[in-house]
Amino acid sequence: MIQITFVSNNGKTATAPPNSNLLRVSLREQGGIPFKCGGGLCGTCKCHIDSGLEHTDEVKAKEKKLLTEQELASGHRLACQTFVNGDISVSWQPRATAAAGRPAPNPASSAAATARTAPAPAAASASGDTKEPESSAG
Ligand code: FES
Repeated sequence: MIQITFVSNNGKTATAPPNSNLLRVSLREQGGIPFKCGGGLCGTCKCHIDSGLEHTDEVKAKEKKLLTEQELASGHRLACQTFVNGDISVSWQPRATAAAGRPAPNPASSAAATARTAPAPAAASASGDTKEPESSAG
């Protein structure tokens, strides 16, 4: 068995039989390498072999189409096109790294300290007792 270290997935490790397809191992073991087509067409699975590049098979024509010579020379591969014959470490760019800035914090709507003093409603005017004049018979 060979060991694959998914560096960009908190260094998660998985074992696989020799001559395993890197993307398949990632899928089976939830390694986390991004992918779309699985067929060497989209380039989503572009990854970097941090160590053990010598344990990967030869670069395919599809990889030469989607990766620059510079990328290939520096150890980049398409996971879906790469077969592994020994221990490797692989890393990749998380999908959503395009946004350069941090998301703006939600501005808390602080209530302005504008206490309005409403006039108190006038108390009900005194209800006068109506005294009935007693007619005293006298
Ligand atoms: S998943 Fe599309 S090129 Fe590998």
